[in-house]
Amino acid sequence: MIIIKVKNYEELSKKAAIIVLSEILLDPSITIGFATGSTPLGLYQELIKAHKELHINFSEMSSFNLDEYYPMTRQDPQSYYQFMFENLFNHLNINPAKLNFLDGTAANAKIECDRYEKKIKENSIDVQILGIGANGHIGFNEPGSNFNSVTRPVELCEKTINDNARFFSDISLVPQRALTMGISTIMSAKKVLLLASGKNKAEAVKRLIEGTIDENCPATVLQRHPHAILLVDEEAASLLHEDIIPDTIKGYKIVTEGNLVRNKKIIVISPHPDDAGICAGGTLSLLADKNEVHIFVMTTGHRSFVPDTTKEDRIALREEEAHEESKELHTIPHFLRLDFYDNDRQNMDKDIAKVTEKIQSIDPDIIFVPQESDPHPAHKLAREIVITILKNYPKKVELWNYEGPWALFQQGSFNTIVSLPEPHLQSKINAIKKQKSQLSRTRYDIAAESLARLRGALIPEQELVGYGKQPMRISNNLELYFVETIDTL
Ligand code: F6R
Repeated sequence: MIIIKVKNYEELSKKAAIIVLSEILLDPSITIGFATGSTPLGLYQELIKAHKELHINFSEMSSFNLDEYYPMTRQDPQSYYQFMFENLFNHLNINPAKLNFLDGTAANAKIECDRYEKKIKENSIDVQILGIGANGHIGFNEPGSNFNSVTRPVELCEKTINDNARFFSDISLVPQRALTMGISTIMSAKKVLLLASGKNKAEAVKRLIEGTIDENCPATVLQRHPHAILLVDEEAASLLHEDIIPDTIKGYKIVTEGNLVRNKKIIVISPHPDDAGICAGGTLSLLADKNEVHIFVMTTGHRSFVPDTTKEDRIALREEEAHEESKELHTIPHFLRLDFYDNDRQNMDKDIAKVTEKIQSIDPDIIFVPQESDPHPAHKLAREIVITILKNYPKKVELWNYEGPWALFQQGSFNTIVSLPEPHLQSKINAIKKQKSQLSRTRYDIAAESLARLRGALIPEQELVGYGKQPMRISNNLELYFVETIDTL
């Protein structure tokens, strides 16, 4: 999750508008999921202003509204249909045929919800705007909603009825039922933008960001969303330990989704076909979204025991598995089949020439290598080759030394902490699992997951705040690196 903290409601509305408008400008035929409630009103005002003053075009945009009271006619001033037209759509050049709403007058609520869910699946939502209930609801998914839920009829809980009574002349007039997109419907949106403003949201925001993922606080599911942006004002963020993760803490660079490099060319040195995923898979899955990530598989890995196979079988098998892993991580594999694996240093010059040529053809900004104290002989040689090349390389390249479960960093020997959102840890584990021939021997998936979680559990207290202090929240999963530039070698 990317958390953006702003001063107040006005700034929240302006920032939200910048995010939404930039998406519309990039793709005018975007599909947006709209929410009602008081929080997005300022954003809608900003969108109207952008249309009037900057002539932003909304005519190609499609929309799906998040929810609707049930039963409720479209003419009713309390309907979310009326809300959207009054507060937004009447003031933009929308195409009404592209706007979708749940029908609060449908005779059969379940059939109506199924129709809506199917249409969402056919179109898919690019950006879903959300508010958050003081009880942690999103849409009308009240506490206890199943994370697998789809669009469906629901009963509103007492807290929500009380909170929404402010829009009605009498609390008895607040509908007790609604139709709402489900949690899995919301999670299927490509991006989610959640807005939270004011003190009465502080508890829910704290649970959303710092709590465990729990159906009793439906918003916590967003911790699993690969592209969730939370825009919170100071009051809504007032109960957080650490609202924004600084780029550096006590000399450690903290890498998050928010400050990740973009548009870089990255090479990952994988001495064996599975090392890149085991050691740096989470970071690679994060980086691959916005950068070009190449994996240099240095050796064939055929020496690793796989029962009833010939050397040729093993080479084919391991390269196939590395292909599969790269598909999972969205990286590009290259198989170098270096000679040192079979003949040690005999043909090092040839190996160096081969790697030099490959590096030059990519012209990287960043190279990942096994860290200096990695004891594995093949890892040592693979590292040595790259360092030898970089010492004479004409361009400044950043070197990211990674640790592996077999070669852990000691305190003080790393300087960069990558905070891995849960979905990226899952990609890492899935990637490692593609190397089936190796897992039957050693459970590297378990080792790598445990290491990421161990780092996540201990580093915040140990390194970032000091023993016994309240640890700051980064992520439950971390990967560590020692990053240096070639000048410093
Ligand atoms: C609105 C919706 C709700 C609200 C939430 C916050 O379509 O489904 O989940 O986003 O109740 O409401 P406000 O913004 O009024 O505090």
